[in-house]
Amino acid sequence: MNTPVWPPPGFAALDRAAVGVLLDNWTGTYTVPSRTLYPHQWSWDSAFVAIGLRHVSARRAQRELESLFGAQWADGRVPHIVFDRAAPPEGYFPGPDFWRSPAHPASPAVATSGLVQPPVHALAAWLTFQADPAQARRRGFLSRLYPKLVAWHRYLADRRGVDGLVAIVHPWESGMDNSPSWDDALGRVEPTPIDAFRRRDLHHVQAAERPTDTDYGRYVRLAADYRDSGYADRLDDAQFVLLDPMVNALFAASEAALADIAAEVGADPLPHREAAARVSAALVDRLFADELCHAYDVPARRLSPERTIAGLTPLVVPDLTVAPALVKSALGEHFRLGQTALLPSYDLTGAAFDPSRYWRGPAWFNTSWLVWHGLTRHGELDHADRLREVTLTAAQQAGFREYVHPFTGEGRGATDFSWTAALVLDLLRSAP
Ligand code: SER
Repeated sequence: MNTPVWPPPGFAALDRAAVGVLLDNWTGTYTVPSRTLYPHQWSWDSAFVAIGLRHVSARRAQRELESLFGAQWADGRVPHIVFDRAAPPEGYFPGPDFWRSPAHPASPAVATSGLVQPPVHALAAWLTFQADPAQARRRGFLSRLYPKLVAWHRYLADRRGVDGLVAIVHPWESGMDNSPSWDDALGRVEPTPIDAFRRRDLHHVQAAERPTDTDYGRYVRLAADYRDSGYADRLDDAQFVLLDPMVNALFAASEAALADIAAEVGADPLPHREAAARVSAALVDRLFADELCHAYDVPARRLSPERTIAGLTPLVVPDLTVAPALVKSALGEHFRLGQTALLPSYDLTGAAFDPSRYWRGPAWFNTSWLVWHGLTRHGELDHADRLREVTLTAAQQAGFREYVHPFTGEGRGATDFSWTAALVLDLLRSAP
């Protein structure tokens, strides 16, 4: 696993630089996504980081996931942010004072947010295990993590279940904060006035590359309402309840990974295989239309017409019946796989397309990695290799940026971004 077999030697400097970012952003127990913009532990960031960090230190990758699950709530939820006590409180908004997690009976000892993020963790845990099975077994990595992963998935199925899929209650839970898929649903939300809080993100990144103030006001309103409900998951009353294809694709892929993990630790894999098949079928049944998966707005009972990268990510699900249609969509005019830097986050022909603004057009390394992983899984090796090539070229040109302009490849958002470094490293070190 640690011997690069591809690509050619021209990438040695990129490999070294990626390792450097992961070493610099390591805190001792986990990796910050960015020293400036995101100075705490983020849930899905840590999962993606583990996928790359396993090539540098399998033990460290295990620690990354273990520290995150150390902050799991008693109800099974894995919080989207785990706050570092030592980080200055003015470093990030909304911080621990906003979320008030210690007031909740299910909260862990450490301060966290009460939202969640896409469940990529079981997939990351299985890949992490594979980097050094003997060492992972010695440390009891999977036998300790398995019940926590099961409790996490149970939280999602029981508390967030809608029609066999998992619902999100805030755009931050999708990881794709201002995706055009949320515009209609967010339009129903009265924004918290911008002078009632202070954004910190704009201290680090240009306003044109981040969500607008109005959208931010809506995020704050939704998060405060959820907090004030006691993080109760009353989906029937909530304003924002969406079924996102990527959240559900990762849920299905992670159930499939849990089946492998269960077999490894001596538990029964069958319930996980069945769950993966059920979620996969529901994804196709409820979210697939016009050759792509779309977000579904539960209160409005409406499938979003928007085409986003989330709609291609079900490729990560094994045995997905609509995989050929998704490949066709990836190659078509909306995403143009292989002809842009990585894959754009949003339809290149879409009315809301903006090549620089967070999740409304720029190309991200994690979603492109997911599509690459999915193409590989479905045997589409030529397309997978082409996507790897344009992704590595973008990283060589822009460095480890949070996202890039899909046409020029120019860097956007945070610099020295951890999951970019981690996933570039995984592309460099994984055999084609
Ligand atoms: N992605 C959000 C932010 O930008 C919250 O997780 O801060």
